[in-house]
Parts: sequence; C-alpha cells; structure tokens
Amino acid sequence: MLISLFFATLIFFLLLAMTYGVPFVPTRKDTAKKIIELLKIKPGDTFYDLGSGDGRMLFLAAEKGARAIGIEMNPHLVLWTYIKIILKRKWNQVSVKFGNYWWVNLSQANKVIIYGMPRIMSKASKKFIRELKKGTLVASNSFQIPDMDLVKKIVVGKDTVYLYKAN
Ligand SMILES: C[S@@+](CC[C@H](N)C(=O)[O-])C[C@H]1O[C@@H](n2cnc3c(N)ncnc32)[C@H](O)[C@@H]1O
Repeated sequence: MLISLFFATLIFFLLLAMTYGVPFVPTRKDTAKKIIELLKIKPGDTFYDLGSGDGRMLFLAAEKGARAIGIEMNPHLVLWTYIKIILKRKWNQVSVKFGNYWWVNLSQANKVIIYGMPRIMSKASKKFIRELKKGTLVASNSFQIPDMDLVKKIVVGKDTVYLYKAN
C-alpha cells in the first residue's frame, strides 16, 4: 500500500514538474563544478537553484561559502535534500523550499542557476528582468535565456552553460 502510494505520488509530481517546468535531470558532476566556478561563488553570496532536484548544486555552492536556497516542487526530492542537509550538517547554509519557483521572489539572490527547457526560458527571462537586482549572475544549463546580457558561454563535455548578468 505504502509502496504504491510512493510510486503514485512520484509519477504525479514528475508529471506536475513537466507541466510547470521540467522533469528531474540532474546536472552532470563535471558540469556542476564548472557552473559553480563560472558563478564565482564565494562567502556572502545568496545562491538560488530554481528546481533544485537532489540538491547537488546547493551543496557545491555551500562548500564555497554561499547561503544556498533550493526551490523544488517534487516532495520526494525535497525530502531527500532535507536528509542530506542533516547528514552533512549544513542546516546553517543550505535550505530547500517545497514549492513552485514561478511563485518565489528572487530579489534576495545574487547568484542563480536554472536548468530548464526551451519552452520556459522566455517566461524565466521576464521573471529575472523583473525581480533580480542589478549585477546578479545567472547560469543556465543547456538553454539560452532571451533578452538578457550574455557574459560567457562554456562547453563542458555534452553540456553548454550560459552565464548572464542582470542589469
Ligand atoms: C533539470 S532538473 C535540475 C535539478 C538540479 N537543479 C540540478 O541541476 O541537478 C529540474 C528540476 O526542477 C524541478 N521543477 C520543475 N519545474 C519546477 C517549478 N515550477 N518549481 C519548482 N521546481 C520545479 C523538477 O522537479 C526538477 O527536479
């Protein structure tokens, strides 16, 4: 009974993520490290991962001294991230919010990562232009963000990462 409930909710939230944004595809480890380098994450930074998945980007950002905040709509992944926060004793630096990132205001961030899909990038661009403070760096794994200033583009194995600066 519990197992069927687990799988039913898993499928439900996967479908929900696909409707609102993107399914869970974790960033490859090498790419994840390069993104953190590209964003020049340092102590004092407030880093947001929009759709934080299993939390891997959050912990890498925290290793560099940032306060890392994930927003994730799949409760299984939120739970898994909570467990990792406790196991790694990172509750002072890492947090994850269960919810929809379209409803979260990003004005506190100065470093942001998004791993989306082409069909959401225009909506994401409008949100970034509306909410991000000047100078905030945004890295996008795989997909370009229209109407934002591209600072750099790097290729890591099969992935291309785009870096933008809000103005
Ligand atoms: C491509 S995965 C990236 C995961 C993680 N950021 C990484 O780089 O490994 C996208 C994640 O965003 C979540 N997601 C999709 N749409 C969302 C939304 N509107 N609000 C919150 N999370 C969302 C999915 O559940 C999925 O875990």
